[in-house]
Amino acid sequence: METTLNKNISKEELCEIFKTDTCYVNSMEVPVFCDMSKVPSLDPNYVFNTEILNQVLLFLANPYNDCLFLSGASGCGKTSIILQIASRLGYAVEQITCSAKTEIQDLIGHQIIKKGTLSYEYGALAKAMLEGEILLINEIDMLGAGELSGLNDVLEGKPLTIVANNGEVIKPHPNFRVIATGNTKGNGDNTGLYLGARVLNKAFLDRWRFVECTYPSAENEKEILRKSCPKISEEDLEHFAQLAVEIRRITNNGSDEMSCDLSCPFSTRTLLRIARFYENVEPYTIYDAVKYGFSSRLSEVESEFISRLVSDVFGNNHIKVLEEEPKHTVIKRGRKKVSKIA
Ligand SMILES: Nc1ncnc2c1ncn2[C@@H]1O[C@H](COP(=O)(O)OP(=O)(O)OP(=O)(O)O)[C@@H](O)[C@H]1O
Ligand SMILES: [Mg+2]
Repeated sequence: METTLNKNISKEELCEIFKTDTCYVNSMEVPVFCDMSKVPSLDPNYVFNTEILNQVLLFLANPYNDCLFLSGASGCGKTSIILQIASRLGYAVEQITCSAKTEIQDLIGHQIIKKGTLSYEYGALAKAMLEGEILLINEIDMLGAGELSGLNDVLEGKPLTIVANNGEVIKPHPNFRVIATGNTKGNGDNTGLYLGARVLNKAFLDRWRFVECTYPSAENEKEILRKSCPKISEEDLEHFAQLAVEIRRITNNGSDEMSCDLSCPFSTRTLLRIARFYENVEPYTIYDAVKYGFSSRLSEVESEFISRLVSDVFGNNHIKVLEEEPKHTVIKRGRKKVSKIA
């Protein structure tokens, strides 16, 4: 993929693009890609956390030879915030999700046999360095420390030498950026929720800027649900957001005060699943939606506890009432009325 020129985006334009009043970046250069196939697709329902948005924009504008590490609980929006920022800026992304079996060669590339001849296929790292893209490494803490240390030089902005491709040297494109996500900060897991998370080498971690992500605030989570499930009433949106707060209160978050410890994190992904069941599966009550969206993975005791929480939050005799039409605003143009989904 070739990049043409960079475009300059002013602070005002960034505020407009991300619909925010708060922007720490004065202006930034963003690559313009001829081939948009690697630019992530837009989720119009995405709700940005202003602080994390700004930290990512600051990094993309001026990495100063750092990489960016987003840590936080499962499903709190680490991967999606990067994809949604890239989508709105038009930045191409190379993505890889690590497991215990991932090797550094999966990032760099492999020899392959194509039509009977041996050729070299670049991995996500080599491609992103060549094309000036964002390399997004998901679940980086699943990789072994030894494996990752091989990346130290590249992460500091030095060229990559591919021994397996006749010693090819790839210089990093100026628009190349490395962003990783992980459930831990590379110090291992102290919650018991993220089995397999490894302790990473301190010299490796020193090359990263860290941003800690948390679940969206109740207000933001309500907004996410409002946009994705327009038939749910305002009153129930409030209940859903409150339910998430209550369940997370009893999830083991690794702090010392372990008053209770639910065995699974309650993610925004899960909350959305429950709300979608509730909105779209006609016979489902709120109890059914919570059961099939979340608590069927829990033990019986935990599941009963969640059920009691649901009746505390939604009320004992809760009746499902959905809006007939999605909430909408009416814009009057001349004599015609035009409806627009809010
Ligand atoms: N701020 C948000 N606005 C809209 N949807 C969101 C938001 N945050 C999370 N979601 C929803 O939750 C899903 C999970 O988010 P995402 O994959 O970004 O989480 P994650 O933190 O990367 O999780 P994991 O640690 O499991 O990889 C997304 O696909 C999206 O549907
Ligand atoms: Mg992720």
